[in-house]
Amino acid sequence: MLLTHPSAFSKLDEIDDTALIQLVYVSSLTVRSRLSATIFGEVEGHARDYNEQHGITGTLCYGNGHFLQCMEGEKAKVAALTRRIFADKRHKNVQVLLLQTISHRSFADWRMRLLFLERWLWSPATKKQAAQLSPYLPFAPNGWSAERTEKFLQVIKTFDTPPHIKAAGITYNAFGNMVRHIAAPHQAFLVVQGFLSVLLVVGLVLLYL
Ligand SMILES: Cc1cc2nc3c(=O)[nH]c(=O)nc-3n(C[C@H](O)[C@H](O)[C@H](O)COP(=O)(O)O)c2cc1C
Repeated sequence: MLLTHPSAFSKLDEIDDTALIQLVYVSSLTVRSRLSATIFGEVEGHARDYNEQHGITGTLCYGNGHFLQCMEGEKAKVAALTRRIFADKRHKNVQVLLLQTISHRSFADWRMRLLFLERWLWSPATKKQAAQLSPYLPFAPNGWSAERTEKFLQVIKTFDTPPHIKAAGITYNAFGNMVRHIAAPHQAFLVVQGFLSVLLVVGLVLLYL
């Protein structure tokens, strides 16, 4: 069930205000936000305080330019937060994957834990989690079915801690992380190519002088 904003909100309207619900949506980071190194800290910081005050639990996952957020709580509270999040200009292409009433929370102990689903950011200590998450990588939740989304949530809710991030990981913005990931394994190649390019330019200049 992929729901766009208006259909998700009309479905929300049909649910009793005090019912316990779970809402899972996906979105993409805007290009501008990919250049911001602070967006994850800002969102997580805001979410922690606000969600705790309003009894909203869940998880926010980011990887490969996509967000997947699961929110659980009283319908009226989740609906109010959802409206604010969907209006946030830092992300786009918002689609609701799951919207259902629930009898109990899956993430009762998680205020709004941020998980990075980028393999190259994880330290070797996350081997077990990496194996469990590998069927979901590269992270592209925008095409997921409700069943796949449920299975993914089943996996991550068993984690005591989020995948461990390498010390220097999140000091880069999302774009910087991508460049680093692509360039790092090919450093020697890029140096040799650079050197050969300089020789070629010098050769051509000498030839035509
Ligand atoms: C992907 C994403 C997820 C977010 N999740 C939350 C959240 O769980 N709780 C929260 O309070 N703000 C969250 N925010 C921030 C809100 O969109 C918004 O900036 C914040 O509630 C402040 O709203 P205001 O500017 O209307 O005061 C999220 C933002 C993004 C881009």
